[in-house]
Amino acid sequence: MGSSEERVVAVIMVGGPTKGTRFRPLSLNIPKPLFPLAGQPMVHHPISTCRRIPNLAQIFLIGFYEEKEFALYVSSISNELRVPVRYLREDKPHGSAGGLYNFRDYIMEDNPSHVVLLNCDVCCSFPLPEMLEAHKAYGGMGTLLVIKVSAEAANQFGELVADPVTNELLHYTEKPETFVSDLINCGVYIFTPNIFTAIEDVFMQRKDRANLRRTTSFEALQSAAKALPPDYVRLDQDILSPLAGKKELYTYETLDFWEQIKTPGMSLKCSGLYLSQFRHTSPQLLAAGDGTRSATIIGDVYIHPSAKIHPSAKIGPNVSISANARIGPGVRLISCIILDDVEIKENAVVIHAIIGWRSSIGKWSRVQGEGDYNAKLGITILGEAGSVEDEVVVINSIVLPNKTLNISVQEEIIL
Ligand code: GDD
Repeated sequence: MGSSEERVVAVIMVGGPTKGTRFRPLSLNIPKPLFPLAGQPMVHHPISTCRRIPNLAQIFLIGFYEEKEFALYVSSISNELRVPVRYLREDKPHGSAGGLYNFRDYIMEDNPSHVVLLNCDVCCSFPLPEMLEAHKAYGGMGTLLVIKVSAEAANQFGELVADPVTNELLHYTEKPETFVSDLINCGVYIFTPNIFTAIEDVFMQRKDRANLRRTTSFEALQSAAKALPPDYVRLDQDILSPLAGKKELYTYETLDFWEQIKTPGMSLKCSGLYLSQFRHTSPQLLAAGDGTRSATIIGDVYIHPSAKIHPSAKIGPNVSISANARIGPGVRLISCIILDDVEIKENAVVIHAIIGWRSSIGKWSRVQGEGDYNAKLGITILGEAGSVEDEVVVINSIVLPNKTLNISVQEEIIL
């Protein structure tokens, strides 16, 4: 470990169950941050890139899920990385900046010079060491990872304007109704500890404003009461917007891949992006086979060592198969996530789909989506312990847990 000035702490904001509704039915079983992408929990991807940060002292996950939901993962990843990883539970949502502030004493206990802050629901190559270097050169309080997206997609994110020469953040608007810029906030940040002072300033201003209102008008008091709780601070609206153009914040543009993971469809897309990244970073995790002694593998595929795959199956590209899955003879899998303990019987076909834990797919059946990752029914999802009987076809549908399908369905949500 280097001198204390150099220490870095990473914080990953994992949110909580009320934030995971768009991820249903998969979030009914598992906190969204632990849903497997390319065979590893979603949060594992940013955590494993934190390893590349020099002098990383600790990694914190901050959320309002129950501690027990993260206990097993946090202890196994701490051992694997040999860096302490801790889950800190908020009693209620405090917002992305309020949550950080709430645990400032833990975060600052190693006296870090920098805090790396990550949203857990983004998928990218997390160029953290490179960002840290750029951040030190800029000399500001914070640096944001940014990317250019299409003008039509930009309004789902924080849109921003940066100085093309100095990279200073000049203007920031969160999810604006009218177009500002196609440069957006990726939810990956590096801050100096001054971020805590900036958050504290927001609390103080709010208190002052509330006091002023209380003494001026009853009407104003009522509208203040309806506003956000006083200890709820959003990083984007409450910190980034007001500090833009004040030589405090800078941007670092990535030209690599970046996606936000709010829905099961996007998790399937991102699983594929991480699998293709494994080609360069961890090729040993990718399966291989030509159909002689093991199944035929096409493109990027992850298979858990405990899964049993018949040699006559054909798998890939973009397939991830979790623990204890059983894939029968003649099965064809393309662009799908097969979760733990799933059984897929002979000659079944699964394309653009997520098959939930302990589900079973019958012989000669077909479970398929059209592959539009952004559409509500663009992929087919089978919730936990679903059963598709022999020769049944399920197209562009979402099936909630514990359902048995003995007739074919198309474009349906089966409750
Ligand atoms: N612990 C905790 N507590 N985490 C939270 C809370 C909270 O109260 N609120 C949000 N988060 C976490 C979420 O789980 C997510 O990882 C991250 O903070 C940001 O979530 P949101 O505040 O809901 O914002 P968003 O995801 O819609 O948009 C943000 O991220 C985009 C990039 O993905 C914004 O910062 C956008 O500007 C940005 O483009």
